Amino acid sequence: MARKGPETNASSQLLAWYDAHARVLPWRARGAEVADPYRVWLSEIMLQQTTVQAVKAYFEKFVALWPTVQALAAAPLDDVLKAWAGLGYYARARNLHACAKEVVARFGGRFPSTEEELRSLPGIGPYTAAAIAAIAFGGRHAAVDGNVERVISRIYAIETPLPGSKPDIRARAQALVPERRAGDFAQAMMDLGATICTPRDPNCLICPWAEHCRGRIAGLASSLPRKTPKKAVPTRRGVAFWIERKDGAVLLRRRPEKGLLGGMMEVPSTDWGVRVSGAEAQAPLGAEWNKMKGMVEHTFTHFHLELTVWKAEAISGGVLRDGGDYRWTKREELAGAALPTVMRKVVAHVLREMPSPTPPVPPLLQPTGTLHFRRDDQG
Ligand code: ADE
Repeated sequence: MARKGPETNASSQLLAWYDAHARVLPWRARGAEVADPYRVWLSEIMLQQTTVQAVKAYFEKFVALWPTVQALAAAPLDDVLKAWAGLGYYARARNLHACAKEVVARFGGRFPSTEEELRSLPGIGPYTAAAIAAIAFGGRHAAVDGNVERVISRIYAIETPLPGSKPDIRARAQALVPERRAGDFAQAMMDLGATICTPRDPNCLICPWAEHCRGRIAGLASSLPRKTPKKAVPTRRGVAFWIERKDGAVLLRRRPEKGLLGGMMEVPSTDWGVRVSGAEAQAPLGAEWNKMKGMVEHTFTHFHLELTVWKAEAISGGVLRDGGDYRWTKREELAGAALPTVMRKVVAHVLREMPSPTPPVPPLLQPTGTLHFRRDDQG
């Protein structure tokens, strides 16, 4: 039965906005192109815990190496893990490969189109199944992630805190999905959340839904969604070392595969403990440290982290102390590096104080580790 009422109108408005303003992303079908389920699936897996900016280069590399699900399924797992390096969370790469094999073995190389069958595949949870079913197959599913929760909480001025409001948000998101173009609608919601209905400073002036938005009308938009206060967690502390060359390249390190933020890049830091001891000895190199004012704070599920930042210029002859997996990354490439949120906060903290890069000069420091400047190393 055709839906009528305010939702239909709101959906059409968002689709019209999407037609004019959709982000151009390498995995998206454009104009009359038909979505390729393989590309949709690959992008959704990559985007599960990583930013759009960081995923783009990896996506291009994967489809160049393995243009079809059959090609990916036939690739040695080690090659897939190598190509994934820097995106972090290697369990995802293993599941990606296992999923490709199952699509070939169980479904003859064609991705299934229903949410239920998609969910039966490795690495595909409820959000990803809904996103693929909508984007690749046009199924009427709402793909509700944190961004969409924010958009829905605002347009309906939902003041019940998360996570209690989830069922209401889900039902309202589902009611908005149009009969046709469910995939474009899902991606329009993602773009709205990422570019206009942003967490802190929503740009309501240019929002296609401004006139419907009860949160905006009530002056509540930026305070939504409300969240149930988290229970107290212990605090850990550490020092992050911002080491920059004269040409503006910054020293990053890959975290160990196992454990928190496994395989992701970081600004090198001391251990994170109840208190910091012996920070200098834990730095990647000996240097004259300039201790920055203020600190960076981030709350993980099980602890709160306070990082102070020590800065130093990498000097000629400086030698890295350990055999860690280090990469010099140009300042302008930091945005595309596979840095977790806590490390993005460290970058923002430093760049607020030192916004302009120093003019490029040849690198002076020759670290003991190998240096690569391939784009994929930067994440
Ligand atoms: N985040 C998750 N999936 C996405 C997509 N298809 N486009 C943009 N951002 C996304």
